[in-house]
Amino acid sequence: ENDEELYPPLQHGARFAAPIEDSTLSALGMKPDEVKAFQKQRHAYINKDQIYTDEIKIPNKTEMVDYHQLHLVSPIDHSNASRLLSKLVVIKLNGGLGNSMGCKSAKSTIEVAPGVTFLDMAVAHIEQINQDYGVDIPLVIMNSYKTHIETNKVIEKYKTHKVSIKTFQQSMFPKMYKDTLNLVPKPNTPMNPKEWYPPGSGDIFRSLQRSGLLDEFLAAGKEYIFISNVENLGSIIDLQVLNHIHLQKIEFGLEVTSRINTDSTGGILMSYKDKLHLLELSQVKPEKLKIFKDFKLWNTNNIWVNLKSISNLIKEDKLELDWIVNYPLENHKAMVQLETPAGMGIQNFKNTVAIFVPRDRYRPIKSTSQLLVAQSNIFQFDHGQVKLNSKREGQDVPLVKLGEEFTTVSDYEKRFKSIPDLLELDHLTVSGDVYFGSKITLKGTVIIVANHGERVDIPDGVVLENKVLSGTLRI
Ligand code: UTP
Repeated sequence: ENDEELYPPLQHGARFAAPIEDSTLSALGMKPDEVKAFQKQRHAYINKDQIYTDEIKIPNKTEMVDYHQLHLVSPIDHSNASRLLSKLVVIKLNGGLGNSMGCKSAKSTIEVAPGVTFLDMAVAHIEQINQDYGVDIPLVIMNSYKTHIETNKVIEKYKTHKVSIKTFQQSMFPKMYKDTLNLVPKPNTPMNPKEWYPPGSGDIFRSLQRSGLLDEFLAAGKEYIFISNVENLGSIIDLQVLNHIHLQKIEFGLEVTSRINTDSTGGILMSYKDKLHLLELSQVKPEKLKIFKDFKLWNTNNIWVNLKSISNLIKEDKLELDWIVNYPLENHKAMVQLETPAGMGIQNFKNTVAIFVPRDRYRPIKSTSQLLVAQSNIFQFDHGQVKLNSKREGQDVPLVKLGEEFTTVSDYEKRFKSIPDLLELDHLTVSGDVYFGSKITLKGTVIIVANHGERVDIPDGVVLENKVLSGTLRI
């Protein structure tokens, strides 16, 4: 009881929620496996608080492997590599719209270099590997109801490419009212997208099975899938990791990297009762937060999973997924949606491993600040791979903070006539109503502040090096 007072259940007030009939969910168009998964999650949400207690620990050496160590061993010869790659399927998570960048279409269609989108990068990478190793790795794109139609149109342009692309649509779950946990959508009314949501990338396991692709791949002799976020420019196939997964018979390998200050929302890998778990901040007791924040194993969402293991878990109905709670507001009414990131699947599998990778395998584009760096000459793009420009000294990318005027992709595009030269930039902060001309060079630390009510225009062709500009600009 005491505990209850200190840590009010996440589902506050919902312990008394009335059951929902399966037939109500079917009437909304949900398939039997979706009904079952939704009911199971709702039931757990009502009855379980998901708070992890004292036993969370930093994963020990036996639960981890270092990426660099894997690369110290001798390279894999060409025929072994081909054999391994022929068992691989690559899946890109493409359910998101990139709401945080104001995108109304699939995030994967944003251009990261002139004329090159995230999807183009993924296709080019697989095409290159297929060609180099004489294999036919399928590229699978998991869409949500928000991205499916658009993506299926977009991929028509790859018809002539040497890669077989398959898509499937993940489930959609109905939102619930926060206070009662009753369903928001009503049967026999037209589907309103705002009353539904894609239940997170963790939906991949069941949705892949439901699509029929999981069985199809197993029948074709595929053994492993490599899952990653479509907007992660660092998520390329790594032969040494694949080989390790193969040799050690790993069922689930999660790539983690060292968390840095700019990593805000996301999961941290922990060991709990001798099993690896991916936890979110909300799952940890307040007095454990300090320890939690000191943990540095940040989820990259690059995941290697054994296909047969997924199939078995689902057939035996043993897949247990935690969730993150979101409370969207619609017409001033609070709702609940429960989302599971794919990494949270780890706790279900035997023989799991955390692969500690360098930051260059984790280059997600979640903001226009990161987009600016990606589009600049800091990076070079080559056959679907991103490399730091060899002319840049050191390994670090610059720290860029664009103000709220730059939040959406369309505003950001209006404010840069062309992408500045960032090769020698360490740090850029921009705040207020600022516009950049073309062919600008930024070096060292540059801070530009337009005061309230003022507009600052950085003229074409200027070089700003270690400069703080505020107010109206005079150069
Ligand atoms: P995020 O939640 O970090 O990205 O998902 P998002 O939803 O695209 O971002 P914002 O908040 O709207 O800007 C990580 C990855 O998982 C995919 C997303 O497409 C992204 O690549 N994802 C997420 C799915 O495929 N399905 C989901 O239900 C949720």
